[in-house]
Amino acid sequence: MTSSYLSVALGPVRLANPIATASGTFGYGLEFADVLDLSSIGALFTKGLSLQPHEGNAPPRICETPSGMLNAIGLQNVGIETFLREKLPLLAAAGATVFANIWGDEEEEYVEIARALSGAPGLAGIELNISCPNVRKGGMLFGNSPEATASLVGKVRKATDAPLVVKLSPNAPDLVESARAARGAGADVLSLVNTFVGMAVDPETGAPRISFGTGGLSGPAIRPLAVRMVHQVHRALPDAPLWGIGGIETLSDVLEFMAVGASAVQVGTANFRDPGVSARLVRELDAWCAERSIAARDLIGRTP
Ligand SMILES: Cc1cc2nc3c(=O)[nH]c(=O)nc-3n(C[C@H](O)[C@H](O)[C@H](O)COP(=O)(O)O)c2cc1C
Repeated sequence: MTSSYLSVALGPVRLANPIATASGTFGYGLEFADVLDLSSIGALFTKGLSLQPHEGNAPPRICETPSGMLNAIGLQNVGIETFLREKLPLLAAAGATVFANIWGDEEEEYVEIARALSGAPGLAGIELNISCPNVRKGGMLFGNSPEATASLVGKVRKATDAPLVVKLSPNAPDLVESARAARGAGADVLSLVNTFVGMAVDPETGAPRISFGTGGLSGPAIRPLAVRMVHQVHRALPDAPLWGIGGIETLSDVLEFMAVGASAVQVGTANFRDPGVSARLVRELDAWCAERSIAARDLIGRTP
């Protein structure tokens, strides 16, 4: 939806509205085209893409938890070639604002994917997932130390002119240092947060409920943690545009994340319960802003 109240800018990224869908919770977007108009949401983030197609982990890969869920899908995806050939053109035709979420085991893989995506028609930007807790190599390891983050982001930055979003790990020892490293190395925007490492066990057998052992916790259970982290990074790096993520389900959740410094938000786990939630949040935010004659961009960072 384009409304004079809703447009926001995150560095080089211009969005018609600040509501996006989070990677891994909205497929490639096309699966949702019957439920909502893909051009009505601010942006969509694809499932994490790798150089080659990837099968992910063995089932069971998800389990429900109090106010949330654990997942260890393990980054199953069709690979970058198929995405570029079969998915992106359809997304562009549907008028979607598309960010490709990408990952690799090695730095070179991220760099190659970023090169392959550069200049792809219909792509609004790239989100580097350096924070997936559900793979044995790569993933979160790049997000766990500021040095590794800086090295990877710097190499990808050299490989592409596309707007570069870096998705940080809430499991990193020092989130602010990770954020500083990513920005210093050329990240245009930071996304926070990815899932928190968690575990659930069958009390009868003692076996983990997820075959990978641990999984990433998401949903409303993590919201106060994510809000605190967005606030902390915004206070430390007020010039860094932030995408807030973590348990967002309602308009008040959106307003909360924007108040602590998020310029836009991504809706994740809530899509599984209500696939139309993001489009509804756009409409609700528009009505809320219109009623008060206030622009969404003026809602950013009001919390002291
Ligand atoms: C099933 C599932 C798959 C996910 N896959 C990815 C992924 O491929 N890449 C990524 O960066 N984040 C992935 N995430 C993390 C989400 O994008 C989001 O950061 C996280 O779930 C927190 O938001 P939420 O509480 O609204 O779900 C995944 C989350 C879930 C639940």
